[in-house]
Amino acid sequence: MSNQTTILNVNLAERAYPIYIGMDLIGDSAIYQPHIHGQQVLIVSNTTVAPLYLESVRSALQAYKVETVILPDGEQYKTLAVWQQIIDTLLEKRFDRRCTVIGLGGGVVGDMAGFAAACYQRGVYFIQIPTTLLAQVDSSVGGKTGVNHPLGKNMIGAFYQPQCVIADIRTLGTLDGRQLSAGLAEVIKYGLIGDPDFFTWLEQNMDGLMARDQSLLTYAIERSCSDKARVVAADEREAGNRALLNLGHTFGHAIETGMGYGEWLHGEAVGAGICMAADFSRRSGWITESDQARIVSLIARAGLPVRPPDSITAEQFMQLMSVDKKVLAQKIRLVLMRQLGYSIVTDDFDPDLLRVTLNEYGRATG
Ligand SMILES: NC(=O)c1ccc[n+]([C@@H]2O[C@H](COP(=O)([O-])OP(=O)(O)OC[C@H]3O[C@@H](n4cnc5c(N)ncnc54)[C@H](O)[C@@H]3O)[C@@H](O)[C@H]2O)c1
Ligand SMILES: [Zn+2]
Repeated sequence: MSNQTTILNVNLAERAYPIYIGMDLIGDSAIYQPHIHGQQVLIVSNTTVAPLYLESVRSALQAYKVETVILPDGEQYKTLAVWQQIIDTLLEKRFDRRCTVIGLGGGVVGDMAGFAAACYQRGVYFIQIPTTLLAQVDSSVGGKTGVNHPLGKNMIGAFYQPQCVIADIRTLGTLDGRQLSAGLAEVIKYGLIGDPDFFTWLEQNMDGLMARDQSLLTYAIERSCSDKARVVAADEREAGNRALLNLGHTFGHAIETGMGYGEWLHGEAVGAGICMAADFSRRSGWITESDQARIVSLIARAGLPVRPPDSITAEQFMQLMSVDKKVLAQKIRLVLMRQLGYSIVTDDFDPDLLRVTLNEYGRATG
């Protein structure tokens, strides 16, 4: 591990664990050694990531008995049936209780590998190697693992914390531009839900981040993970303020569902969703026009859409948003901005103003 590596310690109720952030970490055996306890290691990856990075990880694990499972690539394979391949391999290869499961890939692989580690023999050691920006700043932190059900996304799962997270900036070099931007939507979100200084830093450094400057990416990932860890530590099981992490997501989920999954990347929908939340917050008198302009401009510079697709009408939005899981007792709950850099979770807003936003914001005719 070079002295350029940043180590962030996440303190959660059950345990604390480190997130390593830096260049060329996945091939460094010293980084794994304190976190692997038995002799058996299963690396779970997919058909896109394995050809790029599996050998590097394997080479660092020569001291162990290593097996691999390569899953098909895509959200549509985040199913119990595909997940079972991981469990099948663990059983067929006679993995014991002290084994370690490593998830090498984006959020899909991480969620599935983590859920397998949570379930196999009621819980074995787990290491996350997130290889997308979204996974490095979001899905690998906070302990949510699971798979989709035909009736709902992420409906089967468990809270399960890893031994460590290894975020290797080098892996972002092969990520396509759309995926990088999608991750930046979540990064910007952290600035807006309680870290105004980070928002300002992002305004100053967005061009460098888009150019994949290593030290800027390292800093943005570290700051995002510590912001997320702080929110999660205060509310590990999502009883209250963890919902702040859903800024832009109620609007965004409506876009994802309305367009059909796969049309818009999740982060793209969140980018437009954050702009919609900003518009509604400004109409509610909470943030100024110039705050809103700064938010929209930053989202645009991150290569993200700033307005919803015209094909989803305001009525459709209302319907799609009412089935979102953040609806408690029939009321839509939204994350809205009280001032630039601070957000709240609330159902106390003017529904007529919400309709105005849905009808007018970003509409070609509006
Ligand atoms: N657990 C959580 O708290 C949490 C939070 C947010 C999202 N998620 C989940 O994460 C998933 C989305 O994650 P994602 O955005 O990483 O998507 P993903 O895992 O599908 O990865 C996106 C694409 O990039 C490819 N890829 C991954 N790393 C690469 C690399 N280094 N170089 C080139 N290609 C690479 C993947 O194979 C895939 O095709 C969703 O299933 C979502 O539900 C979970
Ligand atoms: Zn998200």
